[in-house]
Amino acid sequence: YAGEEQTEDYLFKIVLIGDSAVGKSNLLARYARNEFYPNSKSTIGVEFQTQTMQIDGKEIKAQIWDTAGQERFRAVTSAYYRGAVGALVVYDISRRQTFDNISRWLDELHTHSDMNVVTVIVGNKTDLLDAREVSTEEGAALAEAQNIYFVETSALDSTNVQLAFQTVVKEIY
Ligand code: GTP
Ligand code: MG
Repeated sequence: YAGEEQTEDYLFKIVLIGDSAVGKSNLLARYARNEFYPNSKSTIGVEFQTQTMQIDGKEIKAQIWDTAGQERFRAVTSAYYRGAVGALVVYDISRRQTFDNISRWLDELHTHSDMNVVTVIVGNKTDLLDAREVSTEEGAALAEAQNIYFVETSALDSTNVQLAFQTVVKEIY
């Protein structure tokens, strides 16, 4: 078949998880639409965006799912995770509690999805320099101990937002 163009389509489901107000919805808004909402409200139920990207000349579609961090606003857990091959587990570098809860989110992820789900721990809001409560080293150490990826981002100033999503997609692919 030399010279024939392959037109395979890849569709990957990726889930965003983490405590309320860590910035999951704004990371997705920045990534998918290059938008940021300074006063965004809690997500209710589930939303998703499909983003197309090119990797190694192939067209990859990432379907990125976003739900509420707060239990009472969340979508049905098993349905949310079903079929996910990637996950971004987000905390807020300016609120230690959200970092302490990462292990609970990882437990939930592993209860409801395949153990091989490609995971990135994301420390968001690096623009809040003076309010930082979790060092980069602590974030990196947690990820290393779990043998998963780590990236610090700012949905506000766009730092590493592309990188966070691309790391997951490249590794899945
Ligand atoms: P839930 O839907 O309740 O789970 O929250 P969420 O994780 O989706 O958080 P959301 O994206 O709604 O952001 C919460 C608040 O943090 C909003 O006021 C955002 O404007 C703000 N925020 C999000 N990302 C950043 C960031 O990188 N830097 C700063 N300074 N604020 C951010
Ligand atoms: Mg949200």
